[in-house]
Amino acid sequence: MGSCICNPLSASRHLLLTESNSPKLPHSKRRASTVVAYYGLKTPPYKLDALEPYMSKRTLEMHWGEHHRDYVECLNKDLDKSDLFYGYPMDELIKFTYNNGNPLPEFKNAAQVWNHDFFWESMQPGGGDMPKFGVLEQIEKDFGSFTNFREKFIEAALTLFGSGWVWLVLKREERRLEVIKTSNAISPLVWDDIPIISLDMWEHAYYLDYKNDKAKYVNVFMNHLVSWNAAMSRMARAEAFVNLGEPKIPVA
Ligand SMILES: [Fe+2]
Repeated sequence: MGSCICNPLSASRHLLLTESNSPKLPHSKRRASTVVAYYGLKTPPYKLDALEPYMSKRTLEMHWGEHHRDYVECLNKDLDKSDLFYGYPMDELIKFTYNNGNPLPEFKNAAQVWNHDFFWESMQPGGGDMPKFGVLEQIEKDFGSFTNFREKFIEAALTLFGSGWVWLVLKREERRLEVIKTSNAISPLVWDDIPIISLDMWEHAYYLDYKNDKAKYVNVFMNHLVSWNAAMSRMARAEAFVNLGEPKIPVA
């Protein structure tokens, strides 16, 4: 199971137990948190065996089916204690609970739920190889070449101390792509960066398939798994907010 230590009840069982244990108040007087499971477990956008032989079905069953599920259930359990965060979009919840580097108890599970959703969508069957069009052009502009970017991404993954994540992000202010690494659950959303690609460097992500051979895992991700299609659509959305060329309408 995941590193979260909350009672691993499923969201639906948790809902039933909370309902059956709650006093029989008229419906209008019950707290919203006793009748709502806040966030659900999203499925990856492919079957659990679709990334084989590069990421096994066994890994997905454990990583998504146990660890990711555990983060969702623990988050719902955290949120059940108070109505304070009811209805927050996940990215806002993460930024708010990061609390300027003084994280609230809800932060870890909220960030890990978002990070994992983003990670599954950062891969695709038949992925890897080279990005195309705008993403490639921007990588070449900001890193000098795709090879330089690739080396930088792999180096970041292999020099990350402990558990964490490696990201290709678009920096809003600098208007450029950058490779960053974050520890534990931290997501670049907390600094208002726009994530384009992520790689999970927690041991649970690679140990079943690659044991301690992190270099092999990272190279396989770059060669066969990373979804440049996802990167392209994320960049297209990001460019609506970050002007990577010159604005057509000059700022007054
Ligand atoms: Fe993970």
